[in-house]
Amino acid sequence: MEKQLEQLARQGTEAIEQASDLNQLEQVRLDLLGKKGRMTAILRQMGQVPPEQRPALGALVNDVRNKLEEGLAKRQQQLSRLEMEQQLAAEKLDVTLPGRRPSRGAVHPISRVCRQIEDIFLGMGYSIEEGPDIESDYYNFVALNLPKNHPARDMQDTFYIGEEMVLRTHTSPVQVRTMERLAPAVPLKMICPGRVYRKDDDATHSPMFFQVEGLVVDKGISMADLKGTLQLFARQMFGEKQQVRLRPSYFPFTEPSAEVDILCTGCGGKGCRMCSHTGWLEILGAGMVHPRVLEMSGYDPRQVTGFAFGMGIDRVAMLKYGITDIRHLYQNDLRVLEQFEGGM
Ligand code: PHE
Repeated sequence: MEKQLEQLARQGTEAIEQASDLNQLEQVRLDLLGKKGRMTAILRQMGQVPPEQRPALGALVNDVRNKLEEGLAKRQQQLSRLEMEQQLAAEKLDVTLPGRRPSRGAVHPISRVCRQIEDIFLGMGYSIEEGPDIESDYYNFVALNLPKNHPARDMQDTFYIGEEMVLRTHTSPVQVRTMERLAPAVPLKMICPGRVYRKDDDATHSPMFFQVEGLVVDKGISMADLKGTLQLFARQMFGEKQQVRLRPSYFPFTEPSAEVDILCTGCGGKGCRMCSHTGWLEILGAGMVHPRVLEMSGYDPRQVTGFAFGMGIDRVAMLKYGITDIRHLYQNDLRVLEQFEGGM
């Protein structure tokens, strides 16, 4: 028995040292000192030992058990420190790494330009009006002096919804609706930004695009008021050096009518490829509201006159930001949109 105990002490100490983690150490402990372990097995033989040898043997048993328990406790401390260190090493974090920036949204260039236009005209005392995208033939055409079969209806390639409804081809119907609502009160000063639709699709035309039209009705409004207003707008939108020029044109709803150019935003008027070497870029259509249009909407054309203008918001955005293909505005490519981050 003595030999067995000495062997247990030796082998046990070795096993304890070799345990490489706390789980293993627990297994070793059970194997040595557990209820079904080796020490218990040795002690079962105590009954066969002659009584006079028992005290000495008992003392040896205690020695061995103490030695093993001490060894176990020491190893347990070592192993838990080791495991703690490993865990800390795994969780190490480099506080000097740069942080992750939260990604910020951006205001779409069309919304951005639209808000700028609204600000400019709000500053001149205009109201902002809205109307439906799906319009009746009457508001989109008839009330604008474009009766059925009028040849100028072909100027705009219209999406029809049945016989009497259309996707509005311009925001002019909002002007008619606003005149009907307010007539005969003056002054009427309004702009109407919104989506419009035409059967067009290429680098400079999209089947859905944005337009803003303006209308002023009052006593004694003249073409000079129109030009002054557009001049002021062009300077605020494109810079103090801007100029506008009016060229005679035709629209069924205005008489006289004009196409309006600004100095080329690419060359400032010197002439470049962007303006086909003319120095000017067309940005809008305008004119004096046709007397029949005023009359149909409830104004007396002998008492009041008005001017109106309309421009593509997309086109203004393209000029302002140097975008050459209108499709960039509608494909939601983040590489394009992220260039407009922040502001407005
Ligand atoms: N409604 C015209 C268009 O969409 C623009 C315009 C508005 C022209 C007002 C003259 C006056 O083409």
